[in-house]
Amino acid sequence: MGRSLIVGNWKMNGLAAALPEIAAMAAARDDLWLAPPFTLIGAAVAAAGGRVAIGGQDCHASASGAHTGCVSAPMLADLGAGFVIVGHSERRTDMHETDADVRAKALAGQAAGLQVIVCVGESEVQRDAGAVEAVVGGQLAGSLPDDVAGVIVAYEPVWAIGTGRTPTPAEVAAVHGFIRARLVARFGAAGQGVRILYGGSVKPDNAALLLGQADVGGALVGGASLTAASLLAIAAAAE
Ligand code: PGA
Repeated sequence: MGRSLIVGNWKMNGLAAALPEIAAMAAARDDLWLAPPFTLIGAAVAAAGGRVAIGGQDCHASASGAHTGCVSAPMLADLGAGFVIVGHSERRTDMHETDADVRAKALAGQAAGLQVIVCVGESEVQRDAGAVEAVVGGQLAGSLPDDVAGVIVAYEPVWAIGTGRTPTPAEVAAVHGFIRARLVARFGAAGQGVRILYGGSVKPDNAALLLGQADVGGALVGGASLTAASLLAIAAAAE
């Protein structure tokens, strides 16, 4: 599948003063992906100079219409974005997005020609209850489109996001193996080709271990993606 894909997610962080971080990422490598806030996407595309793929953190399920404050997938593509993240746990929680909502957004992203990162992951209560496979399996079944062309899955245990806690390498490998099996069962050879990212407190000092597990094709990185130094250190550790 090739080497690890490292995707940064700035969430609701970043003003114009942060654009030099993107330029520094682009100066160092040409294989990183970064999702800045909507407000910076146009300027980020310019700062990246084609060397960092810029994407959105969300999109609306419709291409256009009367949805005040929302941003569509064609609007992202129009700005030069190459991908969109859908179904992040913060949107599933804060915005009450359902699997059906996430699937509709994924379809909108595909229709706009974007690569689509579909996020799944269990809460701590769900893990403690032994429901990881039931939860993640349900999210995969409900959130993925019927054609996985251009789709990437991100496994992000909710309790590991922004907490400094991570699953053990064996736990990561177990869930990624489960996701792979579900993908192959549903999509056959195409499911074998879907990249599966791990996300949740990935840092320069744990990236090599987490990304070295079977079926881990890269990382979705939040807090540690805010500076070029940190994201570049993760990318270097992942090689
Ligand atoms: P974190 O966020 O790296 O800050 O834990 C990960 C994510 O939400 O994608």
